[in-house]
Amino acid sequence: MSDKDWDKYYKVGIKPIDAQHRVLIRMISELLTILNENFEKELISRTITSLSEYTVNHLEFEENLMEKYNYPEIDLHKKEHEELKLRILNYIKNYRENDNKLLIEITHYLIKWLKNHIMNGADKQLGEFLKSKGFVE
Ligand SMILES: [Fe+2]
Repeated sequence: MSDKDWDKYYKVGIKPIDAQHRVLIRMISELLTILNENFEKELISRTITSLSEYTVNHLEFEENLMEKYNYPEIDLHKKEHEELKLRILNYIKNYRENDNKLLIEITHYLIKWLKNHIMNGADKQLGEFLKSKGFVE
């Protein structure tokens, strides 16, 4: 994805959030690469674990900002986060070695979730709010 496309579709306008979203997208595309190659079980496990850890940390980062700035939509936004956490952790718990089908499902679910959550709503709304509150890095 070009920088121009990134800005158009994904940019929230809050530096650390945008930086973390970029890392998330990169990690997901790495996972897709692994899926398309003759991958090792070890590598898959490691990739999924770091992706899920990074995701959980990122969601917490946003939630801390929402709390700090008394974001009025915090409950709704957190609910979306909770749903993702629940699904990801469930997927990981149920993941069995060599179950590629499930792995592909995880990846597609994540992509879909991120697109919806960042592009069509919650995160962009949060970005606007934080900017209006004068949030600087
Ligand atoms: Fe979010």
